[in-house]
Amino acid sequence: MSSVKKEVKRVTTHTLQKMKAAGEKISMLTAYDYSFARIIDGAGIDVLLVGDSASNVMAGHETTLPVTLDQMIYHASSVIRGIERCFVVVDLPFGSYQSNTEIALASAIRIMKETGAHAVKLEGGEEVIDSVKKIVSAGIPVMGHLGLMPQSIYKFGTYEVRAKEENEAGKLREDARLLEQAGCFALVLEKIPAELATSVSSSLSIPTIGIGAGNGCDGQVLVMHDMLGINTEFKPRFLRQYLNLAEQATGAVQQYILDVKSGNFPNEQEQY
Ligand code: KIV
Repeated sequence: MSSVKKEVKRVTTHTLQKMKAAGEKISMLTAYDYSFARIIDGAGIDVLLVGDSASNVMAGHETTLPVTLDQMIYHASSVIRGIERCFVVVDLPFGSYQSNTEIALASAIRIMKETGAHAVKLEGGEEVIDSVKKIVSAGIPVMGHLGLMPQSIYKFGTYEVRAKEENEAGKLREDARLLEQAGCFALVLEKIPAELATSVSSSLSIPTIGIGAGNGCDGQVLVMHDMLGINTEFKPRFLRQYLNLAEQATGAVQQYILDVKSGNFPNEQEQY
């Protein structure tokens, strides 16, 4: 009997471009491991981001700064083994691209070669344009990231909404234009006023993906741990929590402990 292999139409940068042109919203979530990547890809997500938020939600650091390139490569290669259809973007971590364009390209090449991911993401505008050009010219798709940039938290001093004042909003508009011109295939807009995100989105031909940037972006991204309610202390206004997994997991573990202590687990069907 011959087995019929299911044909999977993979998401590419072209798919995302066509979605923007057709007005179809792009769904994006973060993932850091094989098992969740499998679930989220199987559910039909368009883009998975192996975010440097791994530093917070996987390693328990206060900021995204400590996560290393080697650690991002470990997370990304686990995610890649779990997916069939979605497009996978990997964050270049703090310190892996800011020094110069050669280092930025070398870091991006390591990610592409060692993980099998489809694109990299980096934070910043004008300051990183030469690196974006260098990476794109090597054939690697680059996603930009403007607005709240967690790798610059010690410069900003707070995780509050960015670009509320006209001078910062003007710089963001110009940075978005430069990133598009440098060859970025998409742009994350984090925690900026909805009106600004809407006007930036309509001024660009590449898709924008918002987080805390309102409904006028071409797509939305959330950190998986936040939307599944694994991380319940983090409750910003922009977050919609779809599940309380922390509560459900706690209940399941408490029941398991009771069953073990009472001798109820394992029963006859659960032994050999
Ligand atoms: O690292 C991350 O999870 C991100 C998203 C918040 C966009 O950059």
